[in-house]
Amino acid sequence: MKWIVIGANGMLGHDVVEELKGAGHEVVPLDLPEVDITKPPEELEQHIPEADGLVNCAAYTRVDDAETERTLAFAVNAEGVHHLALVALKREIPLVHLSTDYVFDGHGCRPYGERDPVNPLNVYGLSKLAGEKAVRAAGGRYVIIRTQSLFGKEGPNFVKAIVRKARESEQPLTVVNDQFSAPTYTRHLANGIVRLIEANAEGIVHLAAADSCSWFEFARQIVTEIKPGHEVIPIPSKSLSRPATRPQHSVLNMERYQRLTGHSMPSWRNGLEAYFHEEDYFT
Ligand SMILES: NC(=O)c1ccc[n+]([C@@H]2O[C@H](COP(=O)([O-])OP(=O)(O)OC[C@H]3O[C@@H](n4cnc5c(N)ncnc54)[C@H](OP(=O)(O)O)[C@@H]3O)[C@@H](O)[C@H]2O)c1
Repeated sequence: MKWIVIGANGMLGHDVVEELKGAGHEVVPLDLPEVDITKPPEELEQHIPEADGLVNCAAYTRVDDAETERTLAFAVNAEGVHHLALVALKREIPLVHLSTDYVFDGHGCRPYGERDPVNPLNVYGLSKLAGEKAVRAAGGRYVIIRTQSLFGKEGPNFVKAIVRKARESEQPLTVVNDQFSAPTYTRHLANGIVRLIEANAEGIVHLAAADSCSWFEFARQIVTEIKPGHEVIPIPSKSLSRPATRPQHSVLNMERYQRLTGHSMPSWRNGLEAYFHEEDYFT
């Protein structure tokens, strides 16, 4: 089948293109500046070739900046997504759309199911929730895939930041130990997305690495792999005073994904190991 991937130069988009191709699909990768999803649907449509489906990995993803760039965040994550949903509806093709655990407030302590109530804590989460609503309201075929805490070769991410800091300085690293999620390797996520596409999944599906941890635990594992002995100190998130509030426990329940595909996602530890090999961090 032929798939359009929007946001194809981004961290996830790049791997989705690779995984789709690897599974034998024809892929048309698109991104800024050729394709801007904030353009009206009539204009946007002219830049999107005919295909069997659309995968939207394009987004405004700067969580802290979104607090002061609300209009831009909503223009991309809500209005832009609405435009894509209208194009998909008109063409009668499915839209595969990426969303986030940040639609939840993270106040619970059990993994979130797809039907659990949403309550975003920050502007980015609000804009992504508005995007989900736009996809559902458009009336076409869709799958909304909520994921979290991504790391991959093609973008800035937490793993790269920790590796750089540990290698550049002997100072201990301080990392929050009261926020929990499932750090997800984009290559593993892209593989799961292709499985959902091939299973003709519809509706909302949660998809992230198996198992969860705090950012402190994740950082400690990264350091153990690349610079054993470098000290990592746990700190509470309130000591950071970042512009956007993050959910404390936004782990996602993936039973629906497993039922739809018959597959279980690799753990975050497996993801980290595979990522280190892809980045050649050990050589
Ligand atoms: N990263 C995470 O930890 C995380 C967690 C949960 C969910 N997600 C979701 O997963 C998806 C992929 O995230 P990612 O981290 O791969 O994002 P990313 O690396 O920031 O990539 C997003 C891509 O979209 C492009 N883009 C931005 N505005 C656009 C527009 N108006 N029209 C067309 N393309 C546009 C970006 O181009 P420029 O770079 O030129 O702006 C970039 O190539 C997003 O939906 C995100 O919300 C991400």
